[in-house]
Amino acid sequence: MTSDFFKYQAQTTPHPLAMKISHAEGSYIYDTNKKAYLDFVAGVSACSLGHRHPKVVNAIKDQLDKYMHVMVYGEYIQEPAVELTKLLADHLPKPLEKTYLTNSGAEAIDGALKLARRVTGRSEIISTHHAYHGNTMGALSVMGFEERKQPFRPLIPDVKFIRYNASEELSQISTKTAAVILETIQGGAGFIEPKDGYLEKVRKQCDAVGALLILDEIQPGIGRTGTLFGFEHYNCTPDILVTGKGLGGGMPIGAFTASSTHMDVLQDNPKLGHITTFGGHPVVAAAALATLKEITESDLIAQTLEKEQLIRQHLKHPLISEIRGRGLMLAAITPSADITNEVVLRCQDQGLILFWLLFEPKAIRITPPLTISNDEIIKGCMIITRVLDSISG
Ligand SMILES: Cc1ncc(COP(=O)(O)O)c(C=O)c1O
Repeated sequence: MTSDFFKYQAQTTPHPLAMKISHAEGSYIYDTNKKAYLDFVAGVSACSLGHRHPKVVNAIKDQLDKYMHVMVYGEYIQEPAVELTKLLADHLPKPLEKTYLTNSGAEAIDGALKLARRVTGRSEIISTHHAYHGNTMGALSVMGFEERKQPFRPLIPDVKFIRYNASEELSQISTKTAAVILETIQGGAGFIEPKDGYLEKVRKQCDAVGALLILDEIQPGIGRTGTLFGFEHYNCTPDILVTGKGLGGGMPIGAFTASSTHMDVLQDNPKLGHITTFGGHPVVAAAALATLKEITESDLIAQTLEKEQLIRQHLKHPLISEIRGRGLMLAAITPSADITNEVVLRCQDQGLILFWLLFEPKAIRITPPLTISNDEIIKGCMIITRVLDSISG
């Protein structure tokens, strides 16, 4: 299977981890040699309820027994998508009410950018340095990392970049700006939180010039940071909210949500302003509905903050200078990229899955399922500190 993997499946790096997966359950992934790995990554923040959560699995099975794909997005009334979008609206502040479901986060970002241009009649998009919003041409155009974009130019025009958290640069948001797009907490950059009322200031400047604010919550959203949505920490409601990853409970999804007035412009002039065959797929929507219900009806979100404290308490080591982030979106920073690489690879040997962040080579990603137990957290932290001990000699 390994040689077929390298021969037939497109690779995205020269050295993939290439672990051979047998099955996964709860906080563990098992390889074909029956070795168990405690999962501190959760499919890059996607498996919010761990692996094969029974409520998600049952929702999928129930839906499979009724129908799978029947029609292109938005034409037929399909209960899972209707219930999911309604539940999202129930948990969002006004005027965020209407949701467009997509197949991936990047596709939802593209939809949000299109919506902003369509609503404002303006073209300029302002993004931030070190931003990551996905890899379609639209999402790539607002990525704040030139090295990864250059070979794919020309990208979409009229995109400007400012520095995240640099309030003095907000005057660049002007009456030419259709939208400012920000990650509520920057992910790829190293789990950087907004500081000193930054999001409130962005909101104010957007309001002053009539620009829309798009918040990308594909990673921090759906309970990972101790509130259902990250923006709840920062007294700032976006005009367009983008979610994905953890919303699907392990199934592929993206979503952008706006006011009905804004969202309805996609219906007309031209009609079919944004279309997708499989967006809102009933099986995926059923899984997302079960996930969102479980996260909002249990005390998992509150537990996230307790689990953060447990990680901080058990992950003290001279080689960890700082732990960035909030809730279960944490990045442990080591002195060098080499040490981080060694930790990630040696922990995998020791049965603990860790991963990197895109643009911060010294960061060790710690984004376990929200359902991880306290014992599992302590066990994982012990593996990391043991590996760090062996590195520091
Ligand atoms: C903040 C953020 N935005 C957008 C995306 C893109 O989502 P997807 O990979 O589902 O297209 C990601 C994925 O890592 C992300 O973390």
